[in-house]
Amino acid sequence: MSNQLFYFGSNFKMHQTPQESVAFIRDLKQLRPSDLSAQLFVIPPFTSLTTVSDALDNSNIWLGGQTMHWAAEGAFTGEISGDMLIASGATLVMLGHAERRQLFGETDQALRKKVARAFRVGLRVLLCVGEDAQQREDNLSKEITSRQLQIALADVECHQISGLLIAYEPVWSIGEGGRPASPTIVADMHNSIREWLLNRFGATGHSVPILYGGSVNEQNCGDYAPLEQVDGLFVGRAAWSPQGYISVLQQSLAAQS
Ligand code: PGA
Repeated sequence: MSNQLFYFGSNFKMHQTPQESVAFIRDLKQLRPSDLSAQLFVIPPFTSLTTVSDALDNSNIWLGGQTMHWAAEGAFTGEISGDMLIASGATLVMLGHAERRQLFGETDQALRKKVARAFRVGLRVLLCVGEDAQQREDNLSKEITSRQLQIALADVECHQISGLLIAYEPVWSIGEGGRPASPTIVADMHNSIREWLLNRFGATGHSVPILYGGSVNEQNCGDYAPLEQVDGLFVGRAAWSPQGYISVLQQSLAAQS
């Protein structure tokens, strides 16, 4: 870990009603050890944001949206603006998740506008990058992630990156049927991402947390968490219950000490 704090969060994807999300938060707060040295976050569906925000209260758990539009407002049926996320209690937005890119055509160019807008309205940005299986086979993983970073962060200035987090999430490792990446691959890719950040932002690039995500669970989190290149973990399925969330978190922290 190059940063002091360990970052740990879950993207709920299209799971949980507002009531279910609130129950999740209630249990999470109860199960959470009081002496925790980790920055936690949750990214529920848009419909859960306001109720989860109330339930989080002053718990210092960050609340995030799963994407946003780049415009302030307008005729964009079905979309959500950055200001709406903030008004719903979010302080973070996840951008560029592989499912958004693959299933909903979120392009690097669109992400460039979304990232710029998110910073303008004062949201933290969790930018997801990662290559697909074919790109890895073709030995293009670093080129692909560098290109994703290059375009999405094209308008970002040095002073803004205190609000930036990166998640390396190879497409081939995410979700049902995904294969967890080996720690060697994770370390290598995180090194490449760090190198890109340092080239682009100078020494300030050291401060950007780089999280790993993709089929992280109780069995394998202890392989990633101690890596000096890994500043946190971004978990899907294994953290969709409060017990799962806390268990993966605790095992990750235990593996570091
Ligand atoms: P997973 O999801 O942990 O279920 O693979 C990770 C993600 O999609 O961010």
